[in-house]
Amino acid sequence: MKIVRKPSTALLPTPVVLLSVAGHGKDRPNIITLAWVGTVCSDPPMLSVAIRPTRHSHRLVDAAREFVVNVPRAGQLTEVDLAGVWSGAEHDKFQELGFTAVPADSVDAPLIEECPVNIECVVRHQLALGAHDLYIAEIVAVQYDEDVLDARGRAQTAKIAPLAYAEGEYWTLGERIGTYGGAAKASGRR
Ligand SMILES: Cc1cc2nc3c(=O)[nH]c(=O)nc-3n(C[C@H](O)[C@H](O)[C@H](O)COP(=O)(O)O)c2cc1C
Repeated sequence: MKIVRKPSTALLPTPVVLLSVAGHGKDRPNIITLAWVGTVCSDPPMLSVAIRPTRHSHRLVDAAREFVVNVPRAGQLTEVDLAGVWSGAEHDKFQELGFTAVPADSVDAPLIEECPVNIECVVRHQLALGAHDLYIAEIVAVQYDEDVLDARGRAQTAKIAPLAYAEGEYWTLGERIGTYGGAAKASGRR
């Protein structure tokens, strides 16, 4: 039996990332934890992030129009949670979380050296949805820690060990249980 509930953000899981953005005026570079994040286009590669207009980071992203989406390791959960509770208006999150701000390749935002994947983005669209503004951004460069790439240069999910977010809880990914198109290939059906 199904139970109908009122509309809510029921989709799960979502990624958990650390967005880093350049400072503006007297505001230092900042980090914000985000879970309303997704891949939205393959070519050009694009992702979306949703940020409440009330966030300190919203003002910084609006000013810079560029940011880095840093994929943290599950082992960085404490930093991820704190960056999602503290505000850059009061905290120097790079310094207080022990993160190193490194110049990015193609944007002015600093990337977080300690995160294994750093996705450099330029904002292409912005949409006011209600509680959140949606930013759709083009990925202009991606940096990986050498140790998460295999011999052919492919990112290894198990080595990145990313976090997932569901129903207010943080999760790790379980085991790999298949590959894209693997079932169709095995069945011989298309
Ligand atoms: C797991 C998690 C996910 C979050 N996801 C979002 C999000 O997608 N969008 C958003 O606006 N705030 C999100 N937040 C809240 C912000 O990270 C939080 O309000 C932060 O302190 C804002 O930082 P700032 O004031 O430096 O911008 C999330 C927080 C946590 C802990």
